[in-house]
Amino acid sequence: MTILITGANGQLGNEMRILSDEHPQHTYIFSDVVVPEDSPVTIHPLDITDAQAVTAFVREQRIDLIVNCAAYTNVDKAEQDEATALRINADAVANLGRSGARVIHVSTDYVFSGDEHLPCREDDPVAPRTAYGRTKLAGEQALLAVQPDAIIFRTAWLYSEFGNNFVKTMLRLGRTKEEIGVVYDQIGTPTYALDLARAVFAAIESGEWHAGIYHYTNEGVCSWFDFTLAIHELYNMFIAHGLKQDEPVNCRVRPILSEEYRYLTPRPHYSVLNKAKVKQTFGISIPHWRDSLIACMRNM
Ligand SMILES: NC(=O)c1ccc[n+]([C@@H]2O[C@H](COP(=O)([O-])OP(=O)(O)OC[C@H]3O[C@@H](n4cnc5c(N)ncnc54)[C@H](OP(=O)(O)O)[C@@H]3O)[C@@H](O)[C@H]2O)c1
Repeated sequence: MTILITGANGQLGNEMRILSDEHPQHTYIFSDVVVPEDSPVTIHPLDITDAQAVTAFVREQRIDLIVNCAAYTNVDKAEQDEATALRINADAVANLGRSGARVIHVSTDYVFSGDEHLPCREDDPVAPRTAYGRTKLAGEQALLAVQPDAIIFRTAWLYSEFGNNFVKTMLRLGRTKEEIGVVYDQIGTPTYALDLARAVFAAIESGEWHAGIYHYTNEGVCSWFDFTLAIHELYNMFIAHGLKQDEPVNCRVRPILSEEYRYLTPRPHYSVLNKAKVKQTFGISIPHWRDSLIACMRNM
């Protein structure tokens, strides 16, 4: 197969690139809206909001499958400019669905309200509370309208050694501040983008095309406060064992409530996803978030 990875310069896109080396039976083409100068592989410029360009690219490069890692992911900015977020997260996803190639798309826990108390299943009612969530839900619906047998992975709390994310922010703040407040009333599951990329490859290699929506995060649950404590503790462990040459993080982490943080955009209080379907369908086991955090730090 010839596989196009869009958004190849993002967190998930980069992890897909790394893992593609382990699946050399396919040909890979990488694209993004902006082409970085220092990329280790060729990245083609392709703006997925340009329907004609997408269709021409898919035809010329004879793409069989698109893994869409491109998205408008800034939750706060989406609130100010929902129209742009909608073009990238929904209209462009329909462009991919109409291009003639099969699509594996990535969506988010933000399609749910965040008021749940049990892990959300794929068919639970959706009720996004944010512009970002609305545009991502519109993307799922737009894709399924034009390609009903597409595959969609919903994920949450994504981090990676690439790009900016919560892990890197907490390491930076941990080194520069004496004390930080981190919320303990938002519960979810951190997800290493490399593990999500592995699940995407499990779907590609499963021998059969299993259309539908799947939930994928790492195993376990925690609050952002607990996650921060683990980030600092594990990073210090790497330093103590001589695996990182750095100053230890010496920062007090204070548990706070969301109302004390004054978010620009409301955040889900509970966004744990039920992963039974993805495990059963693709026969995968999912690492615990703490083990995956260690793996990511090793790769950082
Ligand atoms: N990050 C999270 O915590 C999280 C949580 C749940 C779900 N997800 C979903 O997981 C997927 C992967 O997220 P991620 O964190 O890897 O995203 P990311 O790091 O923000 O990467 C997205 C990539 O898409 C590119 N892009 C933006 N507009 C584009 C366009 N018009 N045409 C082509 N490429 C475009 C971005 O380029 P620029 O950077 O230049 O804009 C960026 O390189 C997304 O679908 C996201 O919604 C993410």
